[in-house]
Amino acid sequence: MMTDILELLQEPRMTKVCAPMVRYSKLQFRTLVRKYNCDLCFTPMIMADSFVQSAKARNNEFTTHKNDIPLIAQFAAKTVGDFVGAAEMVAPYVGGVDLNCGCPQRWAIKDGYGVDLLTKPQLVKDLVLQVRNRIPHPFTVSVKIRLLKEIHKTVEFCQTLEKAGLSFITVHARTPQMRNESIDLEGLKLVRDSIQLPLIANGDVKSLRDAKYMYENVQCQGVMSANGILTNPALYSGFSETPLACIQDWLDITSSIPTHFICMHHHLVFMLEKILPKKERCYFNNLQTKESVFEFIDNYYGMKPKTSIESSELIECQYNTRPGKYFKEVLSNCDNEISEDFMENIFLDI
Ligand SMILES: Cc1cc2nc3c(=O)[nH]c(=O)nc-3n(C[C@H](O)[C@H](O)[C@H](O)COP(=O)(O)O)c2cc1C
Repeated sequence: MMTDILELLQEPRMTKVCAPMVRYSKLQFRTLVRKYNCDLCFTPMIMADSFVQSAKARNNEFTTHKNDIPLIAQFAAKTVGDFVGAAEMVAPYVGGVDLNCGCPQRWAIKDGYGVDLLTKPQLVKDLVLQVRNRIPHPFTVSVKIRLLKEIHKTVEFCQTLEKAGLSFITVHARTPQMRNESIDLEGLKLVRDSIQLPLIANGDVKSLRDAKYMYENVQCQGVMSANGILTNPALYSGFSETPLACIQDWLDITSSIPTHFICMHHHLVFMLEKILPKKERCYFNNLQTKESVFEFIDNYYGMKPKTSIESSELIECQYNTRPGKYFKEVLSNCDNEISEDFMENIFLDI
C-alpha cells in the first residue's frame, strides 16, 4: 500500500479521506473505514503539550497497527516546542502531522487553539516551517482550517503557509460562526484557485455521490467526510447506508483490538441510526454493557463477534523523548536526494 501521502494526493483520482474526529477516528474505526475504500485517515485531535510531556497521554491518545497506513496525526498546538516535539515523537509511526486550525469550540479559542490560530498566520507559518525543517520529506506537514468570513484573509493565510513549505491543506468550507448551514462551495473554489497546494475539501460529504460532486466541482485532490462516514463507514464503497457486513466487521475489529465499551457502542449507535427502526433504536441506544449489545445484535441480525486481527499486528510505540534525536537519525539515513531537498527547505525564502 502507498504510504507517501503527497504521492497519494498527486494521483489523478479522488483521494477519499476519513476526518479527524475527537473520540471517534481511533484505530478501531480507521481499521473499519480502510476496509471500505477509505484511502487516508487522520487520528482524533491530540493535545501536543500532553503528548510531549506524558507517557500516559501518548498511550491513551495514540495507538496504531501495521496496516494502519497511510495515517496523519492531528495535533492542537500553539508553540513550536509542542508541535515539533510531538511531530518528532510520532514521526516513526505516521506519514505526517496536521495542525488543527478549525476547532470552533469556546475552550479552544480561549486557550489559543483551533480557529484562534486563523488570526495568527505568522505563528502558524512558524509551526509549519519548523516541522518542515526538522523532519524531511516524504513526511507531510499540513493544516486543517475553516473558511474565514473575509475570504481574502483565508486566501492570504493559505498563501503564507504554502510559502512556508506546507504539504497540503484541508479546508472545511464553513466559517467558525457557521454550524449546520450549507457549505460555502464558492469560497472553497476561490481558495482552490489561489493556491497550488493539494487541497482536501471537507463539508457535507454524506455519500460517494457527494464526494464525487465535491471533487469535480472544486477540482480538489481529496475529499473528507466526518459525520457522513460516522453514520455510514462504507460510504466510500458506494453504499447509501451501513451494510450489515460493516456491522459484522465492527464487532470483529473491536473484539480483536481492546476497545472501551462506550466507543464500541457509540459507533454502533451512529451506524444503526438509518437502518434500525425507531423503537429498536431507542432500546439499543440505552444499552449499558457489551454483553447486552452482543445479545441484541445476535437476536436482531444473527451476528456474533469473531476475532479478526492478530494482536501481534498492534505496534508498541517506543517514543523518543530526547528532542531532535529522530531528526538526526533520519538525516544520517537519508540518501543525497532527500538531504538536498531538506536543505532547500531550511533556506526557503519566506
Ligand atoms: C464527532 C466529531 C469530532 C470531530 N473532531 C475533530 C477533530 O478532532 N479535529 C478536527 O479538525 N475536526 C474535528 N471535527 C470536524 C470534522 O473533522 C469536520 O471538519 C466537520 O465535521 C465537517 O465535516 P462533515 O460535514 O463531513 O461532518 C469533528 C467532527 C465531529 C462530528
